[in-house]
Amino acid sequence: MRLDLRPVLSLLHAPTMSRPASTTPKDPASKLICKTPLSHQPLPHQKPQLTTPVAPPDPQYHLSTLSLPSLSPSPLTQFHTWYQSALSHPVHQPETVCLSTAHLPSGSVSSRYVYLKELDARGFVIYSNWGTSRKAYDIASNVQASLAFWWREVERQVRVEGRCERLGREESEVYFLTRQRGSQVGAWASRQSVVLREEEGGRGVLEGWVREVEERFGGGGEAEAEAEGKGEGKEEGKGEGKGTEKEIPCPEFWGGLRIVPSMVEFWQGRDSRLHDRFRYTRVDGEEGVEGGEGKWKIERLSP
Ligand SMILES: Cc1cc2nc3c(=O)[nH]c(=O)nc-3n(C[C@H](O)[C@H](O)[C@H](O)COP(=O)(O)O)c2cc1C
Repeated sequence: MRLDLRPVLSLLHAPTMSRPASTTPKDPASKLICKTPLSHQPLPHQKPQLTTPVAPPDPQYHLSTLSLPSLSPSPLTQFHTWYQSALSHPVHQPETVCLSTAHLPSGSVSSRYVYLKELDARGFVIYSNWGTSRKAYDIASNVQASLAFWWREVERQVRVEGRCERLGREESEVYFLTRQRGSQVGAWASRQSVVLREEEGGRGVLEGWVREVEERFGGGGEAEAEAEGKGEGKEEGKGEGKGTEKEIPCPEFWGGLRIVPSMVEFWQGRDSRLHDRFRYTRVDGEEGVEGGEGKWKIERLSP
């Protein structure tokens, strides 16, 4: 299925719509742009109009408010409170979070969704491949990362900035052993974000790697089913043991990453874009004595 991105492109390229037709660049990509018909083109002093509305106009937020006295002194406790509230509303998969990383010295930034799996006294824990993924490449050069949660049903956003630290082998293994066998095989099999060339078999290459891992550890079937599209998000609960199956150890290249926050912001949507925002920043720079949480300064930010 192809997604029609033209309305989005029209937004991105909105400034070009105010150009007179004669100065529009003869760029093949410009054919993709959904343009305002000539007769509707604004004069230079007018605001450009979009021909295709891309979203309902101006959504308003009014479900709740946020004030300083209601906040916990700890952003991790505050996050826990909001997370529980998101679970009970219910928000669809509140553990879904956008993780952004940046490579140095190029400065190029990349973002992707991952699942938050744990919140502990030090930070936010996710699990991934640290061998071949883009996030691994970025973090090897720059340990700073950010997270952004959007919980539409409660009109809340949480932003986190901090430095990354890999979880120890034992901690990663504890979580790995809770995954379904198919997801364990998938973790071994996938060389995450490596190109699968069509001329070499495309998806068949991945399925070949899955078979190799299944042969190595005995049993099988489940990971191949996941490779067919039932993968992410169905990983809780341990798989049933089958006669010939060996326990699958956690791969060296796979495990947990903790984002230890230096900044956490809580955003509650309000009417007329006059949202409530509170930012926690560490007052003692690092995590405090003996890995404890340390002290935090809380400031209200203008929306
Ligand atoms: C909702 C959702 C949850 C995901 N959760 C994870 C996850 O927990 N860990 C992971 O490695 N990839 C997860 N992915 C896949 C990543 O978005 C991404 O494709 C993968 O990590 C490779 O990214 P990278 O090469 O930029 O590091 C998830 C994708 C979606 C859409």
